[in-house]
Amino acid sequence: MEDLKQKITALKKEKNTVILAHYYQDPEIQEIADYVGDSLGLSQEAEKTDADIILFAGVHFMAETAKLLNPQKKVILPDLKAGCSLADSCPPDAFKEFTKAHSDHIVITYVNCSAEIKAMSDLVCTSSNAEKIVNSVPENVPVIFAPDKNLGNYINSKTGRKMVLWDGSCIVHEAFSIDKLRTLYKEHPDTVIITHPESEAHILKTASYIGSTAGMINYVKQSAKQKFIVATEAGILFKMQQEVPDKALIPAPSVEDNTCACSECAYMKLNTLQKVYDCLVNESPEITVSEEVAKKALIPIKRMLKLSK
Ligand code: 13P
Ligand code: SF4
Repeated sequence: MEDLKQKITALKKEKNTVILAHYYQDPEIQEIADYVGDSLGLSQEAEKTDADIILFAGVHFMAETAKLLNPQKKVILPDLKAGCSLADSCPPDAFKEFTKAHSDHIVITYVNCSAEIKAMSDLVCTSSNAEKIVNSVPENVPVIFAPDKNLGNYINSKTGRKMVLWDGSCIVHEAFSIDKLRTLYKEHPDTVIITHPESEAHILKTASYIGSTAGMINYVKQSAKQKFIVATEAGILFKMQQEVPDKALIPAPSVEDNTCACSECAYMKLNTLQKVYDCLVNESPEITVSEEVAKKALIPIKRMLKLSK
């Protein structure tokens, strides 16, 4: 494995490639990345990079967002099948009908969707700026929020809005078991529960902190507490533990998991170190977006990045 890591490091330098990785990637991939972050941080890095090639170690919508921000650059993804259940839950044709049925509404979409959906949006948001983006729309203007109904419900509860929600969700965050979580908390009453807003309302209610992956890591870092139950994808524990080596991190249990290990995103885990290397050697698979879609999809992304500065 060390040999492969060295080869990747040498080759990415030779090819002036930047490797951007999400916190849910396997530790060995995070270790060879130039930047590891949440969706917003990764978009911001993609926007400012001067590399010739962006190798995106994450899922398709993340690499596609990087491509939209860098139409002239080559953007490669180790496994093109690394999708996202949220993005899949929102097919363009059905979403078009949905927006037509609410034609007086502003359309805000969570970044976990395809370029086609972004092209039908007025604004894009991520989990770390959703409240801010929604609040940038005057209160009297009706809003459609898609595709994540859990994030949408959470933002509705925070802002007092009644956004119309698309019925999509993340299979990983919906797998957390409230009963097992309560039992775990009883066994460890000195812990603090933290979660990602893609989780269901009953999980969010138990949490002392709700935020993006980067937000959760920051919270654990600055908190005076020593023990945390972490309700998001298991990959986050690698970076989080590096940041707080003396604190205890307990993964939240999912419904089907008897070992009490945290849920894993099967899409994120399709990327492997070997595939990262092959992708760098072959400069493929490459992300492509039609010019027509790209032109429209870039507008709401740029608006989001401007509002997030
Ligand atoms: P973050 O932007 O918080 O990293 O979330 C991305 C994601 O896919 C969560 O499931
Ligand atoms: Fe999509 Fe859920 Fe995986 Fe995040 S964890 S990439 S929302 S399927």
